[in-house]
Amino acid sequence: MSHKSAAYLLQLMRGNMGSVSDGQFEDIIKSLNVEESAKSIAEKVTMMLGEPPVMAEEYSSETSEAQAEVSSRIERIYKRGGSNLKAQFFLDKHLDYVEHNLHTPLPSPYVVLDANHGWMLYWLLNSYAVMNHEIDEKTKSLVKDKIRRHIVDDGRGGIGSGVGQIGHCASTYASVLALVLVEDWETLLEIRNNLYKWFMSLKQPDGSFIMHKNGESDTRSTYCVLVVASLLDILTPELSHNTLGWVSSCQTYEGGFAGCPNTEAHGGYSYCALASYFLVLSQTPTNDDFDINSFTRWSVMRQHQLEGGLSGRTGKLVDGCYSYWVGATFPLLEAITSFHPLFDREALEVYILKCCQLESGGFRDKPGKSVDFYHTNYVLSGLSIAQHEYFLKEETDENTTEDTIAYRLAANENPQAYTVAVHPVIGIPIDAVEKCRKIMRKKKEE
Ligand code: FPP
Ligand code: ZN
Repeated sequence: MSHKSAAYLLQLMRGNMGSVSDGQFEDIIKSLNVEESAKSIAEKVTMMLGEPPVMAEEYSSETSEAQAEVSSRIERIYKRGGSNLKAQFFLDKHLDYVEHNLHTPLPSPYVVLDANHGWMLYWLLNSYAVMNHEIDEKTKSLVKDKIRRHIVDDGRGGIGSGVGQIGHCASTYASVLALVLVEDWETLLEIRNNLYKWFMSLKQPDGSFIMHKNGESDTRSTYCVLVVASLLDILTPELSHNTLGWVSSCQTYEGGFAGCPNTEAHGGYSYCALASYFLVLSQTPTNDDFDINSFTRWSVMRQHQLEGGLSGRTGKLVDGCYSYWVGATFPLLEAITSFHPLFDREALEVYILKCCQLESGGFRDKPGKSVDFYHTNYVLSGLSIAQHEYFLKEETDENTTEDTIAYRLAANENPQAYTVAVHPVIGIPIDAVEKCRKIMRKKKEE
């Protein structure tokens, strides 16, 4: 199947597949494997589905009204662009945005982010890294000092996200990634064994992890624990015992994953779930691990036809941050299935550059919203996913003996890209991941 016909089929599926049964979807998926022209596939799908829309939304809600408003706003933006939908990338302005926010005291409304200091550092530093900007020594040293003040009892209580705060899996994840970006190997080596014990203390009999002492379990905490343990080379079979079984119990009837069993499938939690398989398994996941076809279908349906951007849930609006949360699932699914491409990269890039990017610097959720650090990082990371092609390296003695499949992922870097290739499982550039793993492994052997 050609690139064009697969993309065209996906467009049709998104536009018309309101209520398609699993059986019908299986037929469509089979048709992806045969060499047919875009036209005949389109005819086949139209015949199967009847005249669109299969399921018209007949009621009005706050969400349907917001959707109509966003659609018309975005349509106006695209029509203004005429046939040239490509946009500029305002690199200098984005770098200024990051620089300013890293070095200037935050204004008072940021008090709501007081439990997110580690996160803010990760979002800003990673934005720099994704734009291939080298972090200067002074900034590196400020970041190290700041994060060290959030480490609880040398890592025995994890890492909090502010001075005097309790350790939390999410802030531990964000802070460890920030330390990797500033290459503070010394601190990471100092705390890794204590972090291991702390993670074990958060482990539940069902295989999940609670976010913090007396906290809740969800696929985020699983993902955060696995990323940190894997990067620091402390991921033992005891730590991941039963964990993927628990993750599988979070897959819903829709195909996506919820945060915990019996709740709604969501892009953020689905990313954490899929990435967890890559962090634990040394072979590509199969349908024995989770229902790959229904997950693929659910993910594909997240790309909106008009906007080109991605949503996080059925019936909800596009949001720039899903360019990463959902966008990063596509290269992972493309690596373990025969379906390729699973998303329209160009349409996502257009949404990012035309609807999320601000000429004055920074990125936002959608038109009408303001830029923020979180969206700047995840939109840039999503842009990286859209701009580079990923693949699984062939198994060799070197990379199969100890590595999980997360570390067999590689990118065919696109020289025209505005971004470097982000690791779709870890969330920082591939180069930074490789450097960290090498150092952590070497130190263990010494
Ligand atoms: C909004 O939900 C939530 C998000 C945009 C973030 C989702 C991301 C995660 C759960 C992943 C977190 C990962 C880590 C590593 C901690 P909403 O219900 O307000 O938005 P919706 O309408 O788009 O569903
Ligand atoms: Zn968002």
